[in-house]
Parts: sequence; structure tokens; C-alpha cells
Amino acid sequence: MINRITKAVIPAAGLGTRFLPATKAMPKEMLPVVDKPAIQYVVEEAVTAGLHDVLMITGRNKNSLENHFDRLPELEALLEAKGDAGRLAKVNASTDLADMHYVRQGDPRGLGHAILRAKMHVGDEPFAVLLGDDIIDPRDPLLGRMLDEQVKRGATIVALLEVDPSQISLYGAAAVEMTDDPDVVRITGLVEKPAVEDAPSNLAIIGRYVLRPEVFGILENTAPGKGNEIQLTDALQTMAVTPEETGGVYGVIFRGRRYDTGDRLDYIKAIVQIAVDRADLGPDLRPWLREFAAGLEDGPVETSPLD
Ligand code: UTP
Repeated sequence: MINRITKAVIPAAGLGTRFLPATKAMPKEMLPVVDKPAIQYVVEEAVTAGLHDVLMITGRNKNSLENHFDRLPELEALLEAKGDAGRLAKVNASTDLADMHYVRQGDPRGLGHAILRAKMHVGDEPFAVLLGDDIIDPRDPLLGRMLDEQVKRGATIVALLEVDPSQISLYGAAAVEMTDDPDVVRITGLVEKPAVEDAPSNLAIIGRYVLRPEVFGILENTAPGKGNEIQLTDALQTMAVTPEETGGVYGVIFRGRRYDTGDRLDYIKAIVQIAVDRADLGPDLRPWLREFAAGLEDGPVETSPLD
């Protein structure tokens, strides 16, 4: 199906407190995952799904994000003079990727507040939101499917992941009804970071959304919620219970590989999982990793002073 959505919004203005002190002077979205910053995988995903118009919501320390997607003539000239075409192509890949736009959030008052900053740029059309620290493995495409569902159902679409019930309080949780498609559910309610016993299901919202523009008016009237932040989940809850006015909310259940690079353990797993499958690194990394893992099994646990 041909989708008519062309704009992607990537919020990248959070404080990244889980990654301090690394994120004291740089955004967590710039942390390298192998040899590319996390944010580049996210922009690549948007472009692969046909969204070439990318608006990034930035905050303090925004310069490195903007610089990464801009030209660097001195470096280009140097690599050209050296005849290093391979590295030159890598440097230019992020520059030529998309039609990039930036807006600052000012105070990071929550994901909903960040998305409100996109109102002028987006206008009155549906748009995608991709969280800048959430990587979806390109071998398991998700966004294209969500865009198709948006066109088909005229609704707002979120991505859902089945998580272990004990983990649901880290996410927004969805109450759902089945549809005739096993991968798509109708969302009847949403709760941000519920206590395990209050969660309506173990279906967690992950960082991909295709939103109808009505979300802006709703966010403007959404009071700060959990953590005193303006929560996108609260606006989605309003949309879920007002299908006549807003088209309602549906979830596409994602069963592929996803890496939350804003979480330290997931970040480490992301690097290992991506590197072992790369042609340039995998052949050396795999045998080393096997040997390392075997050593873990017999050896005593020694706490490292390098923390
Ligand atoms: P997170 O809750 O993971 O980001 O938001 P955070 O607050 O930076 O993380 P911690 O918990 O302090 O470590 C998910 C996404 O929304 C963006 C973040 O940059 C991230 O991509 N975000 C969050 C904003 O753009 N603005 C905000 O006010 C909050």
C-alpha cells in the first residue's frame, strides 16, 4: 500500500540521566552503537520507510546532533586527498541521508511536551514519531507496517511489545481488544508505567508511533502526569476513548529485535548483537566472545574497580 505520510519527528531532548556521567555534555542519542551514533540508525529507519522529512527535537548540547547530519568540509577534503573513498562514503552517508530540520524543546518537560514542539512543522497531517534512543533492527521492519495500518484504519498507531509481566512498570501498558489480524489490536486504554498489579496487560508501548494531528490539541490540554511530565501516553489514552473524534488507537505487535540504547544493559547488548552479525567485525568477535563466555562459566566473579 502506498502511504501518504512524509514526516518523521524524532524527540532527542531528554536528559539521559540513566547514562550519567557520559551524558553530562552530550546527548545519549549520540552514544556510538559500534561505529554510528544511535540516532543515525533511527534516521536511517525513517528514510527506509519513505519518510525523508525529519524534524529532530533537540535540547541542551544540541550541537553534536546537528553537526552529525551536516557537512564537515575539512574532513571530507582530508579523506579525499588521502584517497580514502570508503571512509569518505561513511562520513557523507549521514550528511546526505534526509531533509533534516531542528527545533529546540527548551525545558525537557516530557515526551508529550517534546512532540508539541513539532506542531508548526507537521501541520494538519498524520506523522511518525521515532524515539531517538530506540533502535529497531532493520532486519525486522516495523515502521512501514505501521504506516500501512494508519492509512488502512485512519487511526493513530502505536508499536507494542510483549514484555515479561514484571517489566511492565517500565513502560506504558495497553488494554486491548483483538482484531481479525493477529498482529493488530484495538487499544481501549493506556496507563503510563503502572504498578505490576495494576497493568491492564503485558503489552508495552515502544518508541514508534504514527499519530493523527489531533494529538496536538489534546497534548495542549494534557496536564503533567507521571514524573510531573506531559506524557504522550496520557494523550493517547484520550484518543483511545474518543474514536469518533480522533479515529481511535490501534497497536501493531512487534515480534522482532529492538534495542533500548538509553538503558545501559540494553545498550551493551545492542552493540554485541549488531557487531557479531557485521561482516567486518563478526568473524573476529564471535570466537573471542565464545572464549570470553566460557571463561565466565568457570571463573570467580571479580568486581571491577572501573565503574
Ligand atoms: P526517556 O524517558 O527515555 O528519556 O525518553 P530521558 O528522560 O532522557 O531518559 P532518562 O530516564 O533520564 O535516562 C524517551 C525519548 O524521548 C525524548 C528522549 O530524548 C528520548 O529519545 N524526550 C524525553 C524528549 O525529547 N524530551 C523530554 O522532555 C523527554
